Amino acid sequence: MTECKTAIKKIALLTGGGDCPGLNAVIRGVVKTAIRKYNWRVHGVPDGFEGLVTGSSLVEMTEFGIRGILPRGGTILGTTNRGNPFEYVTAEGGKEVIRDMSDKVVENLEILQIDALVVIGGDGTLAIADKFTEKGVCIVGVPKTIDNDLQATDYTFGFNTAITTATEALDKLHTTAQSHHRVIVVELMGRYAGWIALESGLAGGADVILIPEIEYDIEKVCSKIIRRSRTGSKFSIVVVAEGSRPIGGKMVFKETGIRGRSPRLGGVGNIVGEQIGERTGMDVRVTVLGHLQRGGSPTAFDRILATRFGVAAVDCLASGKCAHMVCLKTPKIRISPIKEAVASLKNVDPEGQLVKTAESIGISLGR
Ligand code: F6P
Repeated sequence: MTECKTAIKKIALLTGGGDCPGLNAVIRGVVKTAIRKYNWRVHGVPDGFEGLVTGSSLVEMTEFGIRGILPRGGTILGTTNRGNPFEYVTAEGGKEVIRDMSDKVVENLEILQIDALVVIGGDGTLAIADKFTEKGVCIVGVPKTIDNDLQATDYTFGFNTAITTATEALDKLHTTAQSHHRVIVVELMGRYAGWIALESGLAGGADVILIPEIEYDIEKVCSKIIRRSRTGSKFSIVVVAEGSRPIGGKMVFKETGIRGRSPRLGGVGNIVGEQIGERTGMDVRVTVLGHLQRGGSPTAFDRILATRFGVAAVDCLASGKCAHMVCLKTPKIRISPIKEAVASLKNVDPEGQLVKTAESIGISLGR
């Protein structure tokens, strides 16, 4: 369904999937707009869709209750990567059992008299939201993820903060790499997309940037480092997106096959570091930036984008539209059907302007 059935009096909002900076700014935008502009009541759902399976711990949100959350990282509502109601994992008689609890969620929404839901999440959470719209739940989505890999929007909030954090880390690593004449390999997040690595690598002056969209040749990476060393730059910074892989090779995972969880990438930085050490004979160190990229206070860009998304999500519901996601089509905030938004990921174009810009100034993409 794409139209709300009833006039809205009460909405609920939830944050799902991995957290990222700016979630609280969206929550603030939603709560303030719903109360001030439309006189609706707003309930916060704890821990994503999980909170709607139990339906017991929703809290009424007030402007007073959300004071001071704009600059705060994380989410005051809590979140989880598990808890998909369509494949809900429970322990019964000491055994793991998978149940479809989606009808229970719909029933809880009815009992709680929630007319519409604002779902703030990445591709996984929004795909779940899409399935609930097919069950008649009125939902508007807000795109969140540090990975910036959602097709329908120019930017997701959280991404700008993540690349700012990564750029600051690269600046710091530069000074120590230079002092010690070392190669420093920095593994960054981003899942199957290279946006974080490419953009922070560009901003942080990396010498090599490896991304999932371009399979790398380790020999090319090493020749770049050796060339630099021979011409007087006896240090190099190599940025490696966690989803990078060598030509004809595989991505490196820390954990796969756990029910209800996405596979966890990680470890390619150490492999690349070892190979560079063996081939160049240089002193190599590896830094995995990890969840630092997801934490902390959102940048001004993310606070503004998150606020615009929060306001637009409520306006979207007020206009009677469901099953849509707010998105940035610079310079405007627009809406696009959730189904289309989650249909495919947004990847870096290996022949695009950003990659060409990097290559024009001598950054190696490992090809
Ligand atoms: O999608 C956001 C993200 O931070 C990815 O970049 C990363 O691969 C993943 O989540 C890490 O997930 P977790 O917090 O479950 O380790």
